[in-house]
Amino acid sequence: MANFFASFAGYDLAVDLGSQTTRIMVRGKGLIIEEPTVIARQKKRFGKGKVVAFGQAAARMIGRQPANLEIIFPIRHGVVVDFEAAYALLDHFLEVIRDLPRRWPQLLGPRVIVGIGSEATEVERRAVKALWQQLGARQVFLVNKPLLAAIGAGLAIEETNGGFIVDLGATTTEIAVISLGGIVVGRALKLGGETADQHLLNFLRLKYGLLLGASTVRHLKEKIGSLTPQKKKEEASLVVRGRDLASGLPRSLRLRPVEIREALVPLAQEIVLAIREVLEEAPPELTPNFLEQGLFLAGGFSQLPGWPEMVSQELKMPAWRVEKPNLALVRGGLALWKNPQLLAKVKLVAGLQ
Ligand SMILES: Nc1ncnc2c1ncn2[C@@H]1O[C@H](COP(=O)(O)OP(=O)(O)OP(=O)(O)O)[C@@H](O)[C@H]1O
Ligand SMILES: [Mg+2]
Repeated sequence: MANFFASFAGYDLAVDLGSQTTRIMVRGKGLIIEEPTVIARQKKRFGKGKVVAFGQAAARMIGRQPANLEIIFPIRHGVVVDFEAAYALLDHFLEVIRDLPRRWPQLLGPRVIVGIGSEATEVERRAVKALWQQLGARQVFLVNKPLLAAIGAGLAIEETNGGFIVDLGATTTEIAVISLGGIVVGRALKLGGETADQHLLNFLRLKYGLLLGASTVRHLKEKIGSLTPQKKKEEASLVVRGRDLASGLPRSLRLRPVEIREALVPLAQEIVLAIREVLEEAPPELTPNFLEQGLFLAGGFSQLPGWPEMVSQELKMPAWRVEKPNLALVRGGLALWKNPQLLAKVKLVAGLQ
């Protein structure tokens, strides 16, 4: 009988509400949603605040939208900054999930495991929980993002030397030393891949008097960016088009990896410094283990070539980029659905249960 009722139950979801990308894995179905966390809506003084585009479609409008539309990123640093927009976006994604082919009608709402910034306040945690409850979730489990990333990376987080992990996101970098299923010391920096874009934009503006669009800068970083010289790619170059600040006219410029590096290395050094500080705060019983086992890098920004090399050079310890680093978090959530004991241990309590 239990199975009969279970067949009507909603899906089990693992959710990564990234400030740039939302990823949703559905238990038994895999990665169903991987879309920009963004909507385009009418400005309230022009209309009723109607949402006109979600995710990918909204992202394509960035920088090109007419004056009556606004582009909203509803999530920042692992917490909700625009509840209405977040609701609209996730409701749209859930519709896609509801429409997945299945044998029985879904009578109950989904159960959700969602990552949350480890420095989120009680109020911010409750907001994420309330968001999912309003979306119809039957149960909501909040788990600290670095724990999810570590689980997704396959680290044995319940051991005494559970793992030393850094999640390099778009607006947040989470650093955590994990032991016995919990974060022993950690820090969340409000820096990431988007900060790198800003640094690169300023660098090119000052050095060449050239102003680039946000998506061009990001493309440049992802195509030829690196933190240490990359054997085969040093000769590569990319031509970008922007606006000449002196003349106001369009101008193009050929750029090489070494210049991108010059712009990005100071930011990476700032992050490495914070990693060093976290390591220094870790209990001396744990430090030798981590120095030996090394540091694991997850998150989209960890894909910038040279991260592991730079970290191990500076900190004199091994460093690895985990497999599919941008999916570590959602995979961690999915793994938790198969391990209820661990879920009970790592879930956060937010508001009244
Ligand atoms: N190959 C690459 N080289 C450099 N940067 C990259 C590469 N691929 C992705 N990125 C950067 O990674 C960042 C996105 O990472 P991720 O998807 O982990 O962010 P997020 O989870 O949405 O954000 P956050 O965790 O901060 O809320 C972007 O800044 C993107 O430009
Ligand atoms: Mg992230």
